[in-house]
Amino acid sequence: MIFTTLLSLLVAVVTAAASPLQPQQLEVITPRITSPTESDCWAPGSIQNVTWDTSRIPPAFVNNTGMIMLARPETTYDKNGNPRMTENLNYTNPLATRFPIGTGHQTVQIPIDTPPNNGYVIVLFGDSGNCSPKFKIRK
Ligand SMILES: *[C@@H]1O[C@H](CO)[C@@H](O)[C@H](O)[C@H]1NC(C)=O
Ligand SMILES: *[C@@H]1O[C@H](CO)[C@@H](O)[C@H](O)[C@H]1NC(C)=O
Ligand SMILES: *[C@@H]1O[C@H](CO)[C@@H](O)[C@H](O)[C@H]1NC(C)=O
Repeated sequence: MIFTTLLSLLVAVVTAAASPLQPQQLEVITPRITSPTESDCWAPGSIQNVTWDTSRIPPAFVNNTGMIMLARPETTYDKNGNPRMTENLNYTNPLATRFPIGTGHQTVQIPIDTPPNNGYVIVLFGDSGNCSPKFKIRK
């Protein structure tokens, strides 16, 4: 499932960080993404403002750095017809890195070569991983 994978990626990211890990830093907080919303359509190449709700981020976490990625979750079926969720998380090309999650917003540029699709999500990693509703990228 998407959140399991996101969480394991998150743990990998946190583990890779230079500072020693304190147990309470593993607490998972999930800031709600307020932009994009389901009705949004962003053009490839455009600069957009990703925003999220910071009201539940504990004060001690506000300067922790975040990362934003584009993903396109889809359900595929194996030869027996069993559904399988694939995130298609573009982890090779994060849209933004190293911004403080406490700010609640970050501008990103949608890569010009992003294939048009109605099912993209923005994934925000901080000491949490959370994704936006699906939105469209097309001209
Ligand atoms: C992004 O949105 C936030 C919150 O609404 C706002 O404070 C900020 O100025 C916006 N940034 C840009 C570049 O539009
Ligand atoms: C976060 O950074 C700001 C600006 O550098 C600083 O004033 C504040 O004390 C920091 N907060 C924490 C919890 O580290
Ligand atoms: C990740 O994003 C870059 C920039 O848009 C793109 O060139 C690359 O094909 C993407 N990779 C995947 C797996 O979608």
